[in-house]
Amino acid sequence: MADVKLSGVHKYYGNVHAVRGVDLSIADGEFAVLVGPSGCGKSTLLRTIAGLEDPDDGTITIGGAVVNDLRPRERNIAMVFQNYALYPYLTVNENIAFGLRARKTPEIEIRKRVGEAAEMLGIGNLLQRYPRQLSGGQRQRVAIGRAIVRKADLFLFDEPLSNLDAQLRDEMRSEIKRLHHEITTTMIYVTHDQVEAMTLADRIVLLRDGKIEQQGAPLELFEQPRTGFVAGFLGSPSINLIPATLKTSGTAAEAVFKSGGSLTLPPAKAALLSGAEERQVLVGIRPQHFSRAGGGGPLREGVVSYSATADLIQPTGTRTFTTIKIGGVDAVAELQAHDVTNHGERIELAIDLNRVVLIDPASGLVIA
Ligand SMILES: Nc1ncnc2c1ncn2[C@@H]1O[C@H](COP(=O)(O)OP(=O)(O)OP(=O)(O)O)[C@@H](O)[C@H]1O
Ligand SMILES: [Mg+2]
Repeated sequence: MADVKLSGVHKYYGNVHAVRGVDLSIADGEFAVLVGPSGCGKSTLLRTIAGLEDPDDGTITIGGAVVNDLRPRERNIAMVFQNYALYPYLTVNENIAFGLRARKTPEIEIRKRVGEAAEMLGIGNLLQRYPRQLSGGQRQRVAIGRAIVRKADLFLFDEPLSNLDAQLRDEMRSEIKRLHHEITTTMIYVTHDQVEAMTLADRIVLLRDGKIEQQGAPLELFEQPRTGFVAGFLGSPSINLIPATLKTSGTAAEAVFKSGGSLTLPPAKAALLSGAEERQVLVGIRPQHFSRAGGGGPLREGVVSYSATADLIQPTGTRTFTTIKIGGVDAVAELQAHDVTNHGERIELAIDLNRVVLIDPASGLVIA
């Protein structure tokens, strides 16, 4: 068990500044997920915590002790790499048992732990095979098994589910979350998949260009993004960003589109916008805040009606993603499966603006 603290960590590869001043505290027992686009420095940061890379500046503390000068095997960390390598001449059984053997664990204990891990990972029938006789997804699960049988202070995972098909990935994701509930060891998990990040994390650490853009509980980041980048990174389909000009008068505010039309903002948002008259903004509306308007009853506060043409219809089975135009740009509305059927159909929508985010296009910051 261990907490992890990074302070002022920098890492260069030649003149590539891969990690640019990261301060991060992960509590003992926490499940932290590092997420961000390809090349943002996730693997570099994880490898630095593991001791596989030396930071050029800053300190790394694990369980209260500075580990900068400790070698990887002295840090008692179990890690699944992005490019995991299994021992080719050892069976699956021996690959998983390897770390336990190296630590002189009693044979009976080894057999028990390997059996449990293999069961959890659905590879119990593959224990006598060699890595070359496995599919990519099976190898990846062996690599996870090898890590989780160890009683490490800290688990580091770098995209451990990337080679699995969608269904198996969902299953493994649940297993990893369940494992964490059981063993409550601190975990740092890297992924570029925002669904994986949202579903697994106690805390998401969103990286951008080697720096932390924002960190917090999954729903906090999703509902209260501080920047347009965070708003755009989390959520699928992505948040719609529609350019507009603010018009305020007294306690009211609306977002006016250049192509005509406007949306009246809820009073709680308008209250944050005094003095923002004529300001250019990006109006951020999530696809799930659209619904089919029906019944003609009064709308809740902050909900506006909007009439549109369905340009593109993408049913997923559970929901139907429908592309419409707002303010001259394409926006995606996530509707019920049977809400819309025909391309070109005219639809009446309700848009819940209570959770709208308004972004300053120049700074990228959320202003309300
Ligand atoms: N050994 C290396 N030598 C030079 N540059 C490197 C090296 N390893 C990584 N980089 C660069 O450092 C930056 C961060 O790389 P890193 O592997 O940490 O990204 P990542 O967030 O894990 O991306 P991905 O999601 O694609 O795995 C990238 O610009 C990458 O090109
Ligand atoms: Mg990586």
